[in-house]
Order: sequence, then structure tokens, then C-alpha cells
Amino acid sequence: MKVLVVGGGGREHALIYKIAQSPLVEQIYCAPGNPGIAELAECVHIGADEIDALCDFAKAEKIDLTVVGPEVPLTMGIVDLFQASGLEVFGPNKAAAQIEGSKGFSKDLMAKYNIPTAAYQSFTDHAAAVAYIKEQGAPIVVKADGLAAGKGVIVAMTEEQAIAGVDDIMLDKVFGSAGASVVIEEFMDGEEASFFAFTDGKNILPLASSQDHKRVDDNDEGPNTGGMGAYSPAPVVTAELHDVIVETVVKPTIAGMAADGCPYSGILYVGLMIKDGKPRVVEYNARFGDPEAQPLLMRMKSDIVPVLQACARGELNQDSIEWHDKAAVCVVMASGGYPAAFEKGLAISGLDAAAQIEDMVVFHAGTSVKDGQIVNNGGRVLGVTGLGTTVKDAIDKAYEGVAAIAWQDVHFRKDIGARALNRD
Ligand code: AMP
Ligand code: GLY
Repeated sequence: MKVLVVGGGGREHALIYKIAQSPLVEQIYCAPGNPGIAELAECVHIGADEIDALCDFAKAEKIDLTVVGPEVPLTMGIVDLFQASGLEVFGPNKAAAQIEGSKGFSKDLMAKYNIPTAAYQSFTDHAAAVAYIKEQGAPIVVKADGLAAGKGVIVAMTEEQAIAGVDDIMLDKVFGSAGASVVIEEFMDGEEASFFAFTDGKNILPLASSQDHKRVDDNDEGPNTGGMGAYSPAPVVTAELHDVIVETVVKPTIAGMAADGCPYSGILYVGLMIKDGKPRVVEYNARFGDPEAQPLLMRMKSDIVPVLQACARGELNQDSIEWHDKAAVCVVMASGGYPAAFEKGLAISGLDAAAQIEDMVVFHAGTSVKDGQIVNNGGRVLGVTGLGTTVKDAIDKAYEGVAAIAWQDVHFRKDIGARALNRD
């Protein structure tokens, strides 16, 4: 069969790495892809948000299954468009993707179905939002309602920071129309974990646990990023907690979406805050996590393609996934300056040497080719992912890869996985 993967980051590289292992697959295309992906798939020059052009391509090439990586095409309705053309596609439709596309939508869903989360209120009026912050006091969290590339959340330790956040979002419109409405919610304390489940809209198939490192610097300091590294399994998610998450969060979410007339199929990503062994939802995403997909998919033993097809067809009846009995750790190598401004086009050395290391894969994210040389072209550039018998071995393996690679101003955290180790 022919598979098309939409996107061009580390998540999509990891998806293609896994899809390429399937005996069912003859050819993989990726739009737009990246130089690392180009080693496994044919990259097509169509942007991930050019959904009409993607649909025309899939029809012309008779693609058997399309897998959508990022949230933007999902919230634009790529799944509705493909389905209307009779094409099989993995991911939620436009209505269901609101679970990520609108914070207000997801908070209302959680309230309606008693899914544990922070107390909140939504506002379209600036003065009312400021009054609410003054009434509640700090710490408090301010969120732009719509998609803001992971930057629309202000975790405010003071009232002043929270009000400045509301001003930026509602008055200065720094996130454009994503900030027409804000959600203001209770600050939650605890340890974060990412939980993923495949679903066809009715049945669910949970994945192994994982956790990412959101802050840019060691010891969880500095601003939030898309994720500076991730590991799987995450010891914070014990077998008991796994079951609690499935019963109190994942099942009611999927049942609630169906009951509300927008059944959710694809992969559901639940960001959780764990405190005293109890999970509360921080956010939902309508897609795989990045970088979490990289360690997760390296650990996955089962063929992923039948699972993706079953979700797309509404026929998910598999009740478990087989995992390699190893830990995986992904260290993100980023451009110096990220998540703020950074220089692009800097030559990356050591990729060939890194490719010789066993049990270690370098997933490409923000790379491109300039004059025949691979250069940095985004904030998060590479996801260096190692497998090991223990978390410690996987960390060592990933950092062995990192040590082989260099470019000017490269930045990476030196403590990825340390949280998991501290629990061993
Ligand atoms: P979100 O885009 O909603 O995932 O928020 C981005 C990050 O902000 C999360 O991963 C958390 O680290 C933090 N965050 C969001 N909401 C809260 C909250 N209510 N309490 C504490 N931290 C939060
Ligand atoms: N790792 C966070 C995200 O994918 O949104």
C-alpha cells in the first residue's frame, strides 16, 4: 500500500520510521518532509496546511492511507476533505479537533463530563477577565482560546503577570484571532506526564507512558518550548495510575465527544498534572506529541499500520500494543536562542558518525539542505533518540549520539531523563 504522512518534523520522521517497518507498506510519501525523512520516504513539496493540494495529490497518487501529524491541518478540516473524496485518513475531523483548537471547547467538555481538571472561566471581555484575576489572585494561568503554537499559555506567579498576559492576548492580540477569547484557570501543582491513546471514536487503545521536558534549560528553568526531550516509559505513571487515567479521563473524553455529536478518532494526547497519585487534565492535543512520539515509536513492537487503518475505519478492536522491553530517551538538539530568535543555515557536522551508533536514531525536525550540506532551519533541529535496557542506558545512548553531532550555537539539555532516574 501507499502511505502519505503530512508534516515535516521529528514526530513525522518517527512516524515514518515506524510505518516503514510494516510489511504492508510499499511506498511512503511525506509532505513536506525534511532531509532525514527523505532517506525513508519521497518528500513532496506541499505544505502541511495546503489541504486542497494535499487532497489532489492523494487522489492522483491513489494513496491508501494518509496520516496527519500536526494540529493545524486537522483544525482546518483536512480529514473532512479527504473523507469527502473517499480517501482513508488517520486523525480527527474538524469538529473533533476543536478539543485542541479551542481551550474553551475542551474545558466545557471536561466540566460537562466530570473529567478532572483545573477550575476555570472563559472571557471575551477584557475588564471581566482582569476582575476575575484580581478576585482569584496568583498563581493563576491565562490561556489564549485558539492555537498559538504552544505559546498561548501564561503561567503567572503574580497578578501583574497574569494581567499583562491578558493585555497581550486581548488588547495587543499577539496571537491574532486565537486570543479573541481567553480561559483563566487555577494553577495546578505536580508532575506533568503525557498520555496517548489510539481511538476509532468508540474503542480505545492506550500507548505506553511517556513524559517530555518542556522548559528550555536544565533543572526545568527558562521559558516553555515545544519540548526539549522525552522518555518512555515514565515511572510517574504507575500501572495503577494508568488505569485511573483510562477510566477517569480517556474513556469519558471519548464517550463525551461521541455523545456531543463529534466522535473523536485518531490519537488523543492528554497532558496531565499528577499530584498525590491523582491525574488532572492540563490540555488535550489532537495529534501525537513531539518529541514524545520519538521514544514511543522506537519502543513500539507491533505493526502500527493496521492500528492506524482500524482507527480511520472505525474498526479498532485490538486491545493491546506490544512494546520492546527497553527504555527510550530522546534529547532534542535545538538552535541556540530557541524559543526566541535564532540563526538559521548553520552547517551540522557528525550526522554520518552518529548514524553508525547502534540502538540510536537521529530524527530530523528543523533541518534543510544548503549547498549539499545539512543545516539548521528551525528551533528544534534534531531528536537524538536512544534505546537501552534501563533508562540510564538509554540516556547514555542518546547522549553518545549528541556528542557526535555539532553546529555553531547548538543548545540541548544535559538532564533529559534525570527525573525518571531519580525515581529508580
Ligand atoms: P498547554 O498549552 O495548555 O499545555 O500549557 C502549556 C504548559 O503550561 C503546560 O504543559 C504546563 O506546563 C503549563 N500549564 C498549563 N496549564 C496549567 C495549569 N493550570 N497549572 C499549571 N501549569 C499549567
Ligand atoms: N511535547 C508537547 C507537544 O507535542 O505539544
